[in-house]
Amino acid sequence: MSVTRKCTGYSRSRELKKSGLYPFYLNFSERDRGAARLPDSREIIMCGSNDYLGLSTDPRVCCAAAEASRRYGAGCTGSRLLNGNLDLHDHLERKLAEFFGKPAALLLTTGYQTNLAAVTGLCGPGDHILIDKQAHASLVDAARLSRARVQWFAHNDTRDLTRKLDQLPEKAGRMVVVDGVYSMEGDLCPLPELVRVCRQYGATLLVDDAHGAGVLAEGRGTCAHYGLMEEVPLVTLTFSKAFGSTGGAILGDEEVIDYLRHNARSLLFSASLSPANTAAALESLRILQEEPWRSKEVISKADFMRRELTALGYPTGAASQAPIVPIDMVNEKRTLMAWNLLIEQGVYVNAVLPPAASPRLRSSYMTVHTDEQLARALEGFAAVRDQLLHDDLIH
Ligand SMILES: Cc1ncc(COP(=O)(O)O)c(C=O)c1O
Repeated sequence: MSVTRKCTGYSRSRELKKSGLYPFYLNFSERDRGAARLPDSREIIMCGSNDYLGLSTDPRVCCAAAEASRRYGAGCTGSRLLNGNLDLHDHLERKLAEFFGKPAALLLTTGYQTNLAAVTGLCGPGDHILIDKQAHASLVDAARLSRARVQWFAHNDTRDLTRKLDQLPEKAGRMVVVDGVYSMEGDLCPLPELVRVCRQYGATLLVDDAHGAGVLAEGRGTCAHYGLMEEVPLVTLTFSKAFGSTGGAILGDEEVIDYLRHNARSLLFSASLSPANTAAALESLRILQEEPWRSKEVISKADFMRRELTALGYPTGAASQAPIVPIDMVNEKRTLMAWNLLIEQGVYVNAVLPPAASPRLRSSYMTVHTDEQLARALEGFAAVRDQLLHDDLIH
C-alpha cells in the first residue's frame, strides 16, 4: 500500500482552509524592526517574532552577513569535517564559549540539529533519557532517535523526575533534558532543583536555552540567570531567536565537545552553517555584549504587555516571565477567530494549535518595538476582546 494514501483523506488543513480562518502560510513581503508588511501592502505590528532583540534586521548584522557572503560565498557546500569549515566558524565557537563562560562550543547548522547532535551523540541503547513533558519537539525527536529508553516527567516537577530516576538501574547512563525557557509558556525550568537532583543521581543535565540565551542575565541565559552555568554540563543554543540569524551551538567541556565533533551525525552529515548566518550570529554576539540594555528592555516591554493584556481580560499564563506572553484560547476555533481579528486590526501574533501545544495565541515582544507600536497593538487587542465578547467567544 502506498504511504501517500493518508494524504488523500487528510481533512484537517482542508477543513481549516474551508473555514477561511487559516491561510497556511501568511506571507510577509517585508520586515523591519517591530513591524512587517502583508502582501496587500498593509503594515502589521509584529507581536509574534522570536527576534527578541530586533537584531535580524539590524543594519550592522545585515551588513556582516552580506560581507561574509561576498568573501566566502553563499554556502559552505560541505560538512565541517570535509570542505565546509571556515575560520569564521572557529572564531564564533571561541567567542560563544568565552561569552557564556563554558570551556568549549560546537556550532551546528540549525537549533534542531544542535539538539539532535547533543542527545544522539551522547545517548544510545542501554541509556535512559528523562525529558520534561513540555520540552521542545527537537529534543523529543532527538531522544527518540537516540534509541535510549525515553521517559517523560511532569512539567517542571522535580519530584516526579526524582521518582523516575530512583527506579533506573544503578549503572545505566542517564540524561535529563529540559528547556531553559519554555517556548509556549514562557516559564523557566526550576534549575537549582534540577541541578541538585541530577547531581544526586549522577545524571547529565542538558538545558536547551533557545529562548533564554540573549535575553536573560544580560544575554547569558537561563543558567547564568540562576548563577549555575558551571553546574550545567550541557547547554544548547539557537541563533534563530535573539541572535537574529540561523544556526545553533552546544556548550560544554572540551572533552565532550571533542567527542561530539567526531560522533554527532547531524554535524557530520550536514553542510556547515552558511557564511552569512555565521557572520550575522558573530555580529549579534558583539552587539549583545556592547549593548546589554537590549536584553533588559525586551523583558520590561514584555512585562508591560503582560500587565496590559491581563488588565484587558486576556488569560496570560501566570508563570510566563520571558518575552513570551501566551494567551489561552481554549479551543481551535476561538484561537483562529481571534488570530484573524487581530490581523484585521494590524496585529500579528502566532496561532498555536495542537499538537504543538493547547490552543492559544503566542505573543512575543522585541526590544525594537516602539511605545507607539505597543500602544497600537493594545488598541487592536482591546477591539478584538470586544468582538470576542460580543460573539460570546470569551467571558
Ligand atoms: C526550545 C527550542 N529549541 C530548539 C528549537 C529549534 O531551533 P531552530 O529553529 O534553530 O532549528 C526551537 C525553535 O523553535 C525552540 O523553540
